[in-house]
Amino acid sequence: MIKLIKSSFYKETDTKKKLCRFIKKANQLSFGPECENFERNFSFYQERKYCVFLNSGSSANLAIIQALLNLGRIKIGDMVGFSALTWSTNAMPLIQLGLKAVPVDIEINTLNVSSKKLNAVLEKYPLKAFFLTNLLGFCDDIGEIKNICQQKNIIMIEDNCESLGTIYKGKKLGNFGLAGTFSFYVGHHMSTIEGGAVCTDDEELANMLRLVRAHGWDRNLSVVEQDNIRSKHKVNSTFYSRYTFYDLGYNLRPTEINGFIGNLQIEYLDEVIEKRNKNFIKFSNHLYKFGHLFYPIRFDHIDFVSNFAVPVICKSVEIRNKLVDLCNGVVEIRPIVGGDITSQPFFQKNMKKTSDDFSNSNARLVHNQGLYFGNNPEMTNQEIKTVIKIFSSC
Ligand SMILES: Cc1ncc(COP(=O)(O)O)c(C=O)c1O
Repeated sequence: MIKLIKSSFYKETDTKKKLCRFIKKANQLSFGPECENFERNFSFYQERKYCVFLNSGSSANLAIIQALLNLGRIKIGDMVGFSALTWSTNAMPLIQLGLKAVPVDIEINTLNVSSKKLNAVLEKYPLKAFFLTNLLGFCDDIGEIKNICQQKNIIMIEDNCESLGTIYKGKKLGNFGLAGTFSFYVGHHMSTIEGGAVCTDDEELANMLRLVRAHGWDRNLSVVEQDNIRSKHKVNSTFYSRYTFYDLGYNLRPTEINGFIGNLQIEYLDEVIEKRNKNFIKFSNHLYKFGHLFYPIRFDHIDFVSNFAVPVICKSVEIRNKLVDLCNGVVEIRPIVGGDITSQPFFQKNMKKTSDDFSNSNARLVHNQGLYFGNNPEMTNQEIKTVIKIFSSC
């Protein structure tokens, strides 16, 4: 069986050995210096000023929305757009936190939202923010999306959990909006077992994210920031400062185990991304040329594609079903992420009354006719050949 995920980490045996030694020696395993060091390493990697490390990509998505609400940059009841083809916990925080989640359809040849699709939604809905997903290492004209958001005062944030390392017009995805979120779940570009992050250049937002991450207290702020917030709230005693909770938060902290692994794995990140990119080029050279079977996916506008799974959108439900049978027991496959989110039970339950009908959308077509298989860095040439053979025999 060609598995979606082959191992917990890149260079797993060595990483596990180092992890055992670290755990034996460590004085502290709750959030501490390893996590802080990872934040420095990851912000440097992502070319952003600040990185806030969290316990998952879903937590990163929840934290960024809560932080924007806490800062008053968005308000309960505001309309916030999101890519209709995404993961559940991209859209869920919008609903959980009292916003109106407005789906935006995607383009069938990039699987991502384009400026055209965004403009069509803006004609109807005055969005206050747009939580764009960069799906499976791809993007559409994200630079134009950024321009529209800037012109219309729409806060743009990116869910980059599936596209760490993709470069579009010289810039890393995740760096187009006010902030980008990342996932370090096993099988993603790099693994800390569970883990996530928000990266931004906005200091106020980064500080609020640190508050949201841990109970609403100020413990992970700099001394200067602690002084500021304490004097603003007239917290004069050290005793009470320890348990003063300034704004709405959660406990979304990672542990030193995640931080330690992150610091090891980030050393291999370029190598892993490079290997996956080479695999992807091999797959795409074959699969996207079978125009009678699959919709071609366009990525020639992207400088460098970084994904961890390869999407295939079939020309019919029958072809997709046949592929599901052919892959059974040989290649592990999945639907294209959460598919059309508007058709998911949680969305139907909570947003049905207010949402547009998406039954003729591209997101629904992908939901009904798409699938993906894994692209992992340890894939052998034989496995690549097997996958191509199965998909071309359809
Ligand atoms: C687009 C997107 N956002 C968020 C997440 C959630 O990340 P995590 O599994 O780390 O919670 C995922 C997970 O795969 C995802 O694909």
